Amino acid sequence: MTATAPTVELSVNGVAQHRRLVTPVPGPRSLELLARREASVARGVGVMLPTFVERAGGAVLVDVDGNHLVDLGSGIAVTGIGHGAPRVVAAVAEQAAAFTHTCFMVSPYEGYVAVAEALDRLTPGDHEKRSILLTSGAEAVENAVKIARSHTRRSAVVVFEHGYHGRTNLTMALTAKNMPYKHGFGPFAPEVYRAPLSYPFRDGGLTGEQAAARAIDVIEKQVGAENVAAVVIEPIQGEGGFIVPAPGFLPALAAWSQASGAVFVADEVQTGFARTGAMFASEHEGVVPDLVVTAKGIAGGLPLSAVTGRAEIMDAPHVGGLGGTYGGNPVACAAALATIATIEEDGLVARAAALGEWITARLLAAQGRQPAIGDVRGRGAMVAIELVRPGATDPDPLAAAAVARACHEQGVVVLTCGTYDNVLRLLPPFVIGEELLAEAMDVLTGALLSVGTA
Ligand SMILES: Cc1ncc(COP(=O)(O)O)c(C=O)c1O
Repeated sequence: MTATAPTVELSVNGVAQHRRLVTPVPGPRSLELLARREASVARGVGVMLPTFVERAGGAVLVDVDGNHLVDLGSGIAVTGIGHGAPRVVAAVAEQAAAFTHTCFMVSPYEGYVAVAEALDRLTPGDHEKRSILLTSGAEAVENAVKIARSHTRRSAVVVFEHGYHGRTNLTMALTAKNMPYKHGFGPFAPEVYRAPLSYPFRDGGLTGEQAAARAIDVIEKQVGAENVAAVVIEPIQGEGGFIVPAPGFLPALAAWSQASGAVFVADEVQTGFARTGAMFASEHEGVVPDLVVTAKGIAGGLPLSAVTGRAEIMDAPHVGGLGGTYGGNPVACAAALATIATIEEDGLVARAAALGEWITARLLAAQGRQPAIGDVRGRGAMVAIELVRPGATDPDPLAAAAVARACHEQGVVVLTCGTYDNVLRLLPPFVIGEELLAEAMDVLTGALLSVGTA
């Protein structure tokens, strides 16, 4: 691996950096808690890996039965800098002791301004910017749409096939997939239009420019360029299956948006903060979005999200039009500043890029031996494996579920995703040690190679 040396030591936050199973997964204590969960928690809140966590450090989760599990999911792309990251733990403790809440709209504090300054500096483009801080990714996406509508005085929002933007009413409308995200929860917000994506594995070899022309044709014919307030897109789709559009797709859409007076919004909730081997995924193609939406990896596990963008767009809404009780909570802001310092000072952007190269090479080698691996794709430490029926491109969700289950049983946390539920996604913490990663990848490739042999 060509990356700078991992920062993880043998133990992080009191957690040994190894995989060690002392009971079946889930173990007896987790099973007890699962029974309590079933009796107390609404069933709509699903669970991917039914083992309860007691402590976490670096790239390892310790469950209530004492099992040490290797985390290749980072709590869905949140703890990129690792669990229990020392700077975050210290900053959170210090801020919690000072004060936990005032509401920035009532009595402001420096941390909020410092995070806004950092976002204005780090997001693509050197134009003048402003930021607003919020709490969840969906809330930030909603605010980006509010801001774009206020600026353009238009109402239509264009989103894409396979897109995922959250679970609130507006973001359910923006999200493509019915089950489980939308089914039975309508009616949804109006004025949302869906355009075709560039999905190289499934769109018959369209170039990025051709796929963009197809999408723009749909927008112009079905919505009308003059009605579009915002084009909202994930530079690499997350829940939709880690779909990396063909080169040229994003720049063409950004150029069309800007020429049409629409606000180009990059939803970098999953791809932001070093995850793709760049601070933001838009950078891979030199795209400068008008607005960038961030959350997840921004604050080392504390709930924080943001919209950052061109000052003239961000300042369109009237005073008092934006905000929220908890938006930019001071403890979350302290965590965000510590997270950003960790990424920058520890060289984690380069580390994420190197992890991705190494993981991808291992998976491509496995693909040569396993025809069920239809596609290996991603950028940086955001890598996916799309499983298909051998010799075809028909999705194989059962194989993906079986591989994930086999990994979980052997103490490796991998997640699934995709419109067809047939994609395994890897989102390791950037600080994972090389030996631990190699061991986890042995488990994963072993499970992949046994697809179809049972
Ligand atoms: C691209 C993208 N946008 C928005 C969201 C919604 O974020 P949250 O779950 O914090 O509301 C997610 C969550 O997975 C996401 O991946």
